[in-house]
Amino acid sequence: MINTYQIIQKDPEPLIRRLHNHAQNHNSDYYYQIRSQHDLDDRVEIAARFIYLNKTCYNGLWRVNSKGEFNVPIGSYKNPTICQPEVLRACHAALQRVDVRLRDFRKLDAGEDDFIYFDPPYHPLDETSFTSYAKNGFDSRDQEGLRDICLKLDKRGAKVMVSNSDTRLIRDLYRSKDFKIEEVKAPRLVNCKADKRGAVGELIITTY
Ligand SMILES: C[S@@+](CC[C@H](N)C(=O)[O-])C[C@H]1O[C@@H](n2cnc3c(N)ncnc32)[C@H](O)[C@@H]1O
Repeated sequence: MINTYQIIQKDPEPLIRRLHNHAQNHNSDYYYQIRSQHDLDDRVEIAARFIYLNKTCYNGLWRVNSKGEFNVPIGSYKNPTICQPEVLRACHAALQRVDVRLRDFRKLDAGEDDFIYFDPPYHPLDETSFTSYAKNGFDSRDQEGLRDICLKLDKRGAKVMVSNSDTRLIRDLYRSKDFKIEEVKAPRLVNCKADKRGAVGELIITTY
């Protein structure tokens, strides 16, 4: 994802050309052929594959196996929008004043006058919920570590916002005078059960 943002930031045109190519060739065999390319070197190719799979896979889901290989089957879209040149060019313009980096959240350094929004892997609503964003996952100790970082940044004078699912663990972690918890209904597309794909309860947690 971060590679994709960096490629769009630098120059979206080679990416747009590659995506046009994916769009022209798109069919089931082609999808599985691109899906199996786990060892690409070229960063534009990697970004194009990321967007192509995201636009054509089942429910736009990102899931990997234990080897870290993307393994979502093809979705049933009649006419998926694979290449949106104007959207990519608009993103390119918007990203010109942005510093896009891949970092562990624990390494974040911020202080007074900073606003930080964390959008972490969500804590599962139940055991069958989809949570594996990465091959090593994001467990309750990571959730606790994130809460501790929020407290640290708050003490340094930063303003912090976190979104997460509305679960007992998350409510317990942030139940303190340092945080304000607000419930919101957020639309969710990524769920295998259509009846659970509607609005779900989420929490917006702030230090201010
Ligand atoms: C809910 S998604 C965020 C999606 C993003 N806001 C967007 O709009 O595309 C959670 C992200 O946290 C990343 N992540 C997992 N562990 C992390 C860690 N230790 N430090 C930083 N990011 C992490 C995952 O790779 C995933 O991309």
